Amino acid sequence: MADKKNQFTHYDAINWNKVIDPIDKATWEKLTEQFWLDTRIPISNDMKDWRSLGPVEHKLYDHVFGGLTMLDTLQSQDGMASLLDAAVTPHERAVLNNIKFMESVHAKSYSSIFETLDTPAEIDEIFDWASKNEQLQYKANKINSVYHDPDPLKRKIASVFLETFLFYSGFYTPLYFVGHNKMANVAEIIKLIIRDESVHGTYIGYKFQLAYKELTEQEQKDLNSWAYDLLYDLYDNEEKYTHQLYDEIDWFDDVMIFLRYNGNKALMNLGLEPMFADGAEDVNPVVMNGISTSTANHDFFSQVGNGYRLGQVENLSPDDYNVGKSTQAGLDSSKEE
Ligand SMILES: [Fe+2]
Ligand SMILES: [Fe+2]
Repeated sequence: MADKKNQFTHYDAINWNKVIDPIDKATWEKLTEQFWLDTRIPISNDMKDWRSLGPVEHKLYDHVFGGLTMLDTLQSQDGMASLLDAAVTPHERAVLNNIKFMESVHAKSYSSIFETLDTPAEIDEIFDWASKNEQLQYKANKINSVYHDPDPLKRKIASVFLETFLFYSGFYTPLYFVGHNKMANVAEIIKLIIRDESVHGTYIGYKFQLAYKELTEQEQKDLNSWAYDLLYDLYDNEEKYTHQLYDEIDWFDDVMIFLRYNGNKALMNLGLEPMFADGAEDVNPVVMNGISTSTANHDFFSQVGNGYRLGQVENLSPDDYNVGKSTQAGLDSSKEE
């Protein structure tokens, strides 16, 4: 990146042999190790299960995935651009470039699922629904407005809330069904996305905490109350969204527990106190079972195991990445199991 004071005469090359923050390098290694593409998952193997589901379940899948496409689109466009703008180290910028591309892979994955399961008319209906749904538009625009806020810490908070909280009203459906041994390949994609989001949320939360430590006590207090206000606001909207999606199938209460549990995880990624009483033990065990099932092995892809981390989130420390431990370097998945 050019030195802003002297940008026409000086430009620094990125040196991975002089890493300023070892978490950048560990995260780069973790994310590149777990690289995947939607085209490698045999979604069509779920057709028999798909045909066994009724119109209510089909509509639910279609709409939750339409909503998730919207959020991943936002992350791949304005979200990562807004974080790149505030990156402190060149290696952080490289990690965010990786995340930006993977957000595009996530967004595209839903189209691969639609292409396999839905007719062209149904696909049109999904995107039409997403573009007109009031609550979906509300949250996308709310988060996007923060992405254009001058305060880089607020932008990080919005990103973590999207990734560790807002996604989960959508993730509930495929996790519920795979917990009942249905739609395993679609769920495989979702679990790969969840695994990525877990690293993104932790990493961006960690970068938030670094900058947060530099604030005065009063600035921290103000930012905390801003963050809780934003989460309350998103929660209110999410309640309405969850009613729309899940009332017909009668899962509203269970989805809200799952959302509150993940809302706490989002706060903890930022080093903030949880605000909901719900813990892992309150979440529907079928969904927990769906989320914790390890990734199926797909031949050449088999070394990429899936590990969603359950339970309590702790603040990140360099030890979490097992820095320096060759191929096993990465977020410690054992501590949350
Ligand atoms: Fe994503
Ligand atoms: Fe993400």
